[in-house]
Amino acid sequence: MNKNKVYIETYGCQMNLADTEVIMGILNNNGYELTKEIESSDVVFLNTCSVRDNAEQRIHGRLGTIGVLKQNNPNLVIGILGCMAERLRNDLIEKEKVVDLIVGHDEYRKIPELIDIAFSGEKGIGVKLSRTETYEDIEPYREEGLSAWISVVRGCDKFCTYCVVPFTRGRERSSKIESIVDEVQRLSERGFREVTLLGQNVNSYSDGENDFADLLVACAKVDKNLRIRFTTSHPQDLSDKLLYVIAEYPNLCNYIHLPVQSGSDRVLEKMNRTYSIEHYLGIIERARKIIPGVTFSTDIISGFPTETEEEHKMTLDVMSKVRYDGAFMFKYSPREGTRAYKMEDDIPEEVKSRRLTEIIDQQQKIAYKINQGLIGTEDIVLVENFSKKSNQFYSGRTSTNKIVILPVAENVQIGDYVKVKIYKATSATLFGEFLKITDVYKKHKNVNVA
Ligand code: 5AD
Ligand code: SF4
Repeated sequence: MNKNKVYIETYGCQMNLADTEVIMGILNNNGYELTKEIESSDVVFLNTCSVRDNAEQRIHGRLGTIGVLKQNNPNLVIGILGCMAERLRNDLIEKEKVVDLIVGHDEYRKIPELIDIAFSGEKGIGVKLSRTETYEDIEPYREEGLSAWISVVRGCDKFCTYCVVPFTRGRERSSKIESIVDEVQRLSERGFREVTLLGQNVNSYSDGENDFADLLVACAKVDKNLRIRFTTSHPQDLSDKLLYVIAEYPNLCNYIHLPVQSGSDRVLEKMNRTYSIEHYLGIIERARKIIPGVTFSTDIISGFPTETEEEHKMTLDVMSKVRYDGAFMFKYSPREGTRAYKMEDDIPEEVKSRRLTEIIDQQQKIAYKINQGLIGTEDIVLVENFSKKSNQFYSGRTSTNKIVILPVAENVQIGDYVKVKIYKATSATLFGEFLKITDVYKKHKNVNVA
């Protein structure tokens, strides 16, 4: 019998990329073939994002194009997975006639059954949220590579007033430490060199006995040459214990993504972010003391309802105080069902855009200066791939998440850790000369215990 072929496109955050691997694992276990060619597929899935309106508009546009494929193949099943499925439910099927199947985050196990329903000509719908589903018994389908993701916390209980995620992904729940450590072990045995632990708020990880710092230690111990990264951290829940743990284990990367969202306490309160700028800057200061050389990135929203010009300047001010190495910067986008949706979206589009441009420009200048300051320094880079521009150069990353371009050397292979000396820098990229092959665990660490 011919196996049905499934093609999946993934949009949005790293959690969605990890979910797609879980979904492919489920499909693989159920006898489906996975394909990278949309034209020859029997089922097309879009794993979607709802975090901002433009993410959803992209999907509507894509459905227009994909719908055309049904003219040649009327049996083609088109499915929407993830946040848009959960948020829009039946309305999506009403609006987009080409959609046969909608499946939210906690019903992925039902996908094979729902595909059968769709093949029989009915609409397949699975959008119930669960308080317990973690998929920890499912082996994600991963191609060979160096980097992998593992979702360790699903859902979010923070309810930031602008954010749709608590509604689309439901309540927070954590996988058991044993299942995560086993997965890290298997990845290490397969030759992976980096694992990113994922959660909308990883710091709230708890399996009843272990907190997130305990989880990091357990993962770090699996393989000293396997780097561990994590995202996203919430400033309210990031503990000093976690900072000390990062400082202690060389393979826990010296990089923290710590979204600030706004530089104004009044706006933060309206966003329900539950911390003040003073508290936030306190974490940054302690982290820099405890983990020398640690880098930070952030998320920033410009033009939240009622944000004044002065408050926008406060955001620029906090950026120049922290001096982020990287930032993801967005215009506020009202999301139906959230608390902020009931606030008037009163900042005109052109003001939001101008503020966002100022934020982006400032961030670029800061990152450029930071990176210029790294010229002449040495660091350890995991060689990840050939550079996008030329096969004569490798591209890799430091523990601090900086991209480094270095010349291909005969004895160096993808997957090696190498020591480099930085000789050139832009705001986004460092350029290094190769010094020698090394091990990640030889990295020098100064642990300042307070
Ligand atoms: N509008 C703009 N940005 C948003 N984010 C979340 N919701 C919205 C929204 N409604 C941003 C936040 C979050 C990141 C993942 O997306 O900065 O940290
Ligand atoms: Fe959304 Fe806030 Fe949860 Fe992040 S912490 S997913 S911004 S509600």
